[in-house]
Amino acid sequence: MKFELPKLNFSYTALEPYIDAQTMEIHHTKHHQAYINNLNKALEDAPELGDKTLDYLLTNLETLPNNVRNAIRNNGGGHYNHTFFWEILTPETGTAPGNSLMTKINEDLTNMATFKEAFSQAALTRFGSGWAWLVVQEGKLSVESTPNQDNPISEGKFPILGLDVWEHAYYLKYQNKRNEYIENWWNVVNWAKVTENFESAKA
Ligand SMILES: [Fe+2]
Repeated sequence: MKFELPKLNFSYTALEPYIDAQTMEIHHTKHHQAYINNLNKALEDAPELGDKTLDYLLTNLETLPNNVRNAIRNNGGGHYNHTFFWEILTPETGTAPGNSLMTKINEDLTNMATFKEAFSQAALTRFGSGWAWLVVQEGKLSVESTPNQDNPISEGKFPILGLDVWEHAYYLKYQNKRNEYIENWWNVVNWAKVTENFESAKA
């Protein structure tokens, strides 16, 4: 089985002016595609993994053969994270968390404003390349970040929202101003999808 680039649910221009079309197109067709190509290439060197799902690979990294483990961690992670990222974005601005998720944010993370501040800080202070996440672990919400293309599922956590803070995600429009990218990104979060992720994490 070969992994393939998923289609986006919206056009490259759809997230303007918050995320520009050129960044979206290069991010999707070049960066995401490269992770997929490199993942497929790594799997050619480990044919015994050919029928495994991406979830399986990323939650069983330590059991993978040495010769492909890092390639799968980085490129499988890259494919997983980007596929996840496209789905939690929407051109429909001004959406909000559903009741179940909002209640849980208030319970575990004080309130929406405090949560957004903590998440933005995690994204801003992630040194180098990586991701900020809102995760569910043992029934509780928390904010964290990971380096490179690591995903919290490899540590038994269930991500429901994620933000790519690799420079390739924002540099064309925002250059060194990661804080402006983060601030603008909140406008295009697909809260319906994040709420759906939360509901399935609870199940
Ligand atoms: Fe990216």
